[in-house]
Amino acid sequence: MDTIVVEGGVPLRGTVQVSGAKNAALPAVAAALLAEGDHRVANVPDLADVRTMARLLGHMGCAVERSGDHHGLSIRVPAAVTPEAPYELVKTMRAAVLVLGPLVARWGRARVSLPGGCAIGARPIDQHLKALTALGARIELEHGYVDATAPAGRLRGTTFTFDVQTVTGTENVLMAAALAEGRTVLRNCAREPEVVDLAAALVRMGARIEGAGTDELRIDGVERLRPLDHVVIPDRIEAGTFLVAGALPGSDVVVRGCRAADLEALVEKLRAAGATVGEVEGGLRVVGDGRPRPVDVRTSPHPGFPTDMQAQLMALLCLADGSSTLTETVFENRFMHVQELRRMGAEIAVDGKTAVVKGVPALSGAPVMASDLRASAALIVAGLAARGTTVVQRVYHLDRGYERIEAKLAPLGARIRREKA
Ligand code: EPU
Repeated sequence: MDTIVVEGGVPLRGTVQVSGAKNAALPAVAAALLAEGDHRVANVPDLADVRTMARLLGHMGCAVERSGDHHGLSIRVPAAVTPEAPYELVKTMRAAVLVLGPLVARWGRARVSLPGGCAIGARPIDQHLKALTALGARIELEHGYVDATAPAGRLRGTTFTFDVQTVTGTENVLMAAALAEGRTVLRNCAREPEVVDLAAALVRMGARIEGAGTDELRIDGVERLRPLDHVVIPDRIEAGTFLVAGALPGSDVVVRGCRAADLEALVEKLRAAGATVGEVEGGLRVVGDGRPRPVDVRTSPHPGFPTDMQAQLMALLCLADGSSTLTETVFENRFMHVQELRRMGAEIAVDGKTAVVKGVPALSGAPVMASDLRASAALIVAGLAARGTTVVQRVYHLDRGYERIEAKLAPLGARIRREKA
C-alpha cells in the first residue's frame, strides 16, 4: 500500500489549481442513467471514486471513457441497461446509491445494494427510500439489496418533506422527480453547491426545476430527457483543504479555480484564526501570519461550516495560541483523526460531539494512519506544519477524493512524496 511522506516545517508559497468536485461529478455521472444516448461531462476529477462510478455504469451496460483534455468523461447509455448496483461496488463507495433514483425513474426498476455502515457514522438511506416511496416506487429490502420498481413504469409527482437534510438523498430524489409524472415539491432539501450543480445539469438535459439552492425544490416532471452536456463545478473541499494549508504560519498561497461564494463559512473561520484571505483574479489568496488564533466551529449543512472541512481545520487549530472547540453535528463519529493528531503532539479532548483543541507551539512528525478521506487530508496538513517526518498510511482513502495531492503541494515548496508499496 502506498504511503505519503511529508517533511514538515516549510511554509507554502505559490499557486495551486483546484480540480472538479468529486461530490458534483458523482451525481452528474449517475444522472446519465436518466437518458439513453451519448453524454459528456467535463472537469471530472481523476479519482478512485469516479473510477468506481464508471465501473458501476459499465456493469450496467454503459460505455464510459475518458475523453479530451478537459478531464472529460463520455458515457454512452444503451437502449437497455442492467439496472443493478452490486454489493462489491457499493461497499467501496456509498455514493453508488445515487443510481437508485435515476434507474427506477428511467428504467422502471432498480436493484441496489444497501450501503453498509461507514467509518464516520451509520449513514442510513431511509430518507432516499421514503421519498422514492412517496413518488410511487414500490420498495423491498431483501438479501441486503433495495429492490425498487415503478408500478406502471413511471413515478408520480408528490410533495415530500425530508426529516433531515441529506445531500445525496436530495440528489437521488431530484433525479427521480425529473422524470416523474406531474409536479413534485421537495421540502427541507440540502442546499449544497453540488445539489445546485446537479440541478443545473438536469435543466440542461431538459428537466424543469425551480428553487435550486433553497430548501424547497419544485420539479415538473418531463417524459424524456436529453443526454447530458455538463461542466462540473470546482471542488470546494479540495480548495478548502489548500486554503487551510495556506493559512499555516508563513505560507502564502493562491488557490486558483475555486469559487469564493462556495467557501464563505470556511473563509470566515480562517480570517478569525488570523489568516488574510482575499479574492484575486481566478481564485482566492491566503496568507498565514504567525500562530493561528483559536476559533470555535460548529459543522452544519450548507451554508454552514462543512463537515468535510472539520478535520483539516482542526489540524490548523492544533497550532493555535489558545483553545478552540469544534462541534460536529452532521456525522456521529467524525473525530477519528483526533487519535492520530495526538500522536503528532496535539492536545485534544473529545466529549461527545465536541472536541476541545488546546493549541501547542509545534507538532512533531510521526507515522500516522488515515481513517477516512478528510481525516487523511487533515494528517497531510498537520504533516506540512510538523517538525520532522510524517508518514501517512492507508493513502487509498486520500486517493478517493484528492487528485494527486502530493503533485499539487510539491510545487508550493512542500517536501512531500508518495512512496509506492
Ligand atoms: N441521513 C439520514 N438518513 C438518510 C440520509 C442521511 O439519517 O437517508 C443523515 C446522515 O446519517 C448524516 C446526515 O443525514 O448524519 C447528513 O448526511 P448526508 O446524506 O447529507 O450525507 P451524504 O449525502 O451521504 C454527502 C457527501 C459527504 C458529505 C455529506 C455532508 C457525497 C457523495 N458525499 O454525503 O462527503 O460529508 O454529504 O455534507 O456527496 C466526503 O466527500 O468526504 C464526504 C463524506
